[in-house]
Amino acid sequence: MNGAFAQAATPTPDRLAQPTLPAKPTQADKGAQVYWLACLPCHGDRGQGLTEDFIQTYPEEDHNCWASGCHGKNPYESGFTIPRYIPPVIGAGTLQNFPNAASLQSYIRAAMPYWKPGSMTEEESWQVTAFLLRENNLWGAQDELTASTAERILVGPPRATPAPQPSPPTDAPAMVSPYFLLAGFGILILLFILAGRLEKK
Ligand code: HEC
Repeated sequence: MNGAFAQAATPTPDRLAQPTLPAKPTQADKGAQVYWLACLPCHGDRGQGLTEDFIQTYPEEDHNCWASGCHGKNPYESGFTIPRYIPPVIGAGTLQNFPNAASLQSYIRAAMPYWKPGSMTEEESWQVTAFLLRENNLWGAQDELTASTAERILVGPPRATPAPQPSPPTDAPAMVSPYFLLAGFGILILLFILAGRLEKK
C-alpha cells in the first residue's frame, strides 16, 4: 500500500475516492459502493447534487460538463447530454417525492442511473436505496431492506391520511356543462323560429 505516500501527496482527503468496505459489509455499506460507482458523478460525493462546489472536484477540463465532448449538446457516441440540474439526494428536504422506501427503490430501479436506466440489478437497487436511507437517517439499518419492509419506512411527507385527491382547478372560470350550452342553443333557435313565425303573421 502506498497510503502514506498518497496522503503526503494529497493533504486533503480525496472526495472522489472509493469508499472502503468493512469486513462484514451491510446492505447499506454495499450500497455506498454502488453509489460511488453509479450515482456520485452526478449526485455528488455527499449527495448534494451537481453543485458548483462539487464540479470543482472534477479535473479542470471537465469543469464545464456541457462544453466538453461527452455531455454537451452533441455528445460522442457513448456520451449523453447531462441535465443542467441534478437534484440532491442526501440532506434535509431531499427525497420528498417518495412517500416510502419502496417507492424510492422502484424509482431508482426504473429511472437511474439517469444515462442508463435499468442497468442496475434488483439487488444493487436495494443496496443503494439502503445507503440513501441510512445517510438520511431514515432507517436504522437493523434488518434487511426488502420489498416487504420498505413499505413501512417513510421517506417523504408522511401520508398517514389518504393523499388529497386533486380537486378541479378553482381559479378557472366556472365550468358550464356542455349539455346546458346545448340546451341554451336549442332554446335560442326555438325562440328565433317562433319570432319568425310571429313576424310572418
Ligand atoms: C447522469 C447523471 C445521473 C446519474 C449517474 C444518476 N442520476 Fe439520479 N438523477 C439525475 C437527474 C437529472 C435527476 C432528476 C430527474 C428528473 O427530475 O426527472 C435524478 C433524480 C434522482 C432521484 C430523485 C430525486 C428527487 O428528489 O426527485 C433519485 C432518488 C436519484 N436520482 C437517485 C440516483 C441513484 C441512486 C443513482 C445511482 C444508482 C443515480 N441517481 C444516478 C441524474 C443522475
